[in-house]
Amino acid sequence: MSHYIVQPVQGAAGAVRVPGDKSISHRTLMLGGIAEGTTEVRGFLESEDCLATMKAMHALGVTIERPGPYEVRVHGVGLHGLKAAAHPLDMGNSGTAMRLMTGLLSGQNFDSELIGDSSLMQRPMERAAAPLRLMGARIATLNGKPPVKIGGGAPLSGIHYDLPVASAQVKSAILLAGLYAKGPTTVVEPAVTRDHTERMLIAFGCSVDAQEGRVRLEPPQRLKACSLEVPGDFSSSAFFLVAGSIGKGPGLTIKGVGINPTRTGLLDILALMGADLRLVNHRSAGAEPVADIEIRPATLKGIHVPEHLVPLAIDEFPALFVAAACAEGETLVTGAEELRVKESDRIAVMAEGLRALGVQCEVLPDGMRIHGRPTGHAFSGGRIESHGDHRIAMSFSVASLRAAGSIEIGDVANVATSFPGFLQTARSVGLDLVQHS
Ligand code: S3P
Repeated sequence: MSHYIVQPVQGAAGAVRVPGDKSISHRTLMLGGIAEGTTEVRGFLESEDCLATMKAMHALGVTIERPGPYEVRVHGVGLHGLKAAAHPLDMGNSGTAMRLMTGLLSGQNFDSELIGDSSLMQRPMERAAAPLRLMGARIATLNGKPPVKIGGGAPLSGIHYDLPVASAQVKSAILLAGLYAKGPTTVVEPAVTRDHTERMLIAFGCSVDAQEGRVRLEPPQRLKACSLEVPGDFSSSAFFLVAGSIGKGPGLTIKGVGINPTRTGLLDILALMGADLRLVNHRSAGAEPVADIEIRPATLKGIHVPEHLVPLAIDEFPALFVAAACAEGETLVTGAEELRVKESDRIAVMAEGLRALGVQCEVLPDGMRIHGRPTGHAFSGGRIESHGDHRIAMSFSVASLRAAGSIEIGDVANVATSFPGFLQTARSVGLDLVQHS
């Protein structure tokens, strides 16, 4: 199994670009596939997760070309043009792909089956299946987990659904099924979650009433092909935001990052902790706001992370826990039980890794309490396991900026699910990171 070895270095410096946004890239393929006409995408994330969605859409009869690096051309077949796949669709490591495809496939007149890798086969799917069944979909899971079997030809009706968990994936699955339903669909969320589906549906010409925490979609809608530019993935920038904060030296600039406010909770959290960060060069990539982020070293202070920021930073907690280990005093995260059902149990796996590197932390059912060391080395050297979770592997790479010895990080192949080229990008700003197979 491939692993990283990362040697301690003092600081990270320079400017980086991170690859395209994963959430947005998945959606360009799904919405482009059911649109009328040809959708041109630039800045597409060519990662394993998004390539799994690409293969699935292809198996469903959508022609997808890759005219150049980070470019995708999707020849949409229209809302009712998808065809049955000849085999189960393998969504790899991607929960987003599986849940959104469950919604999309609920509205088709053919049967489908979704499978994934060993991590995805253990993740909860009823959160999406249950509301879709309320709409009339015929969906079977195995004890709530994949394989997900979707029966074709079920007539769908719109629903009003109050999401029990703040989940953009479930919201999006319901909205995609809502395109095929009779009558309007309304989704109300307990806390604001990422709104890329709503923004992109509007970019495809749909009429969507999106208020804070409430979305309504009334069919019939037609999606008209468009040109889309995918911004850099804020979640991939998180590792460099933390690196720029905890290391020494002049700091880092991360260019062309998506700063959709439903994604940037980490900026607010780091600002509360005393980080020295600045957003410059504001612009937009179609429906999404973009900026460059400058971050300089600062002495971070432990905080109780406000719970309303948790869904807005949900993928950034592994990186934040590393920052917290370098902060003065105690950082407390609560209300984050969703971390337990991500690509790994990110509370348990991060706590195990932090302890292996000498950090004092306490596991809570819905979060963690971390005692930071603001001066000197915050981490010893040692070996940690990523449990096949890309974000765990990248987060511990950054810990090398405050480590006393080398850190070995096991099972890192899945970094390619979200951040192909992480190793080169990390090395370009001074991290001493090597991959061994
Ligand atoms: C995503 C939503 C989030 C996030 C995931 C991507 C999306 O999951 O963790 O990485 O693209 O909609 P939940 O909606 O389950 O919180």
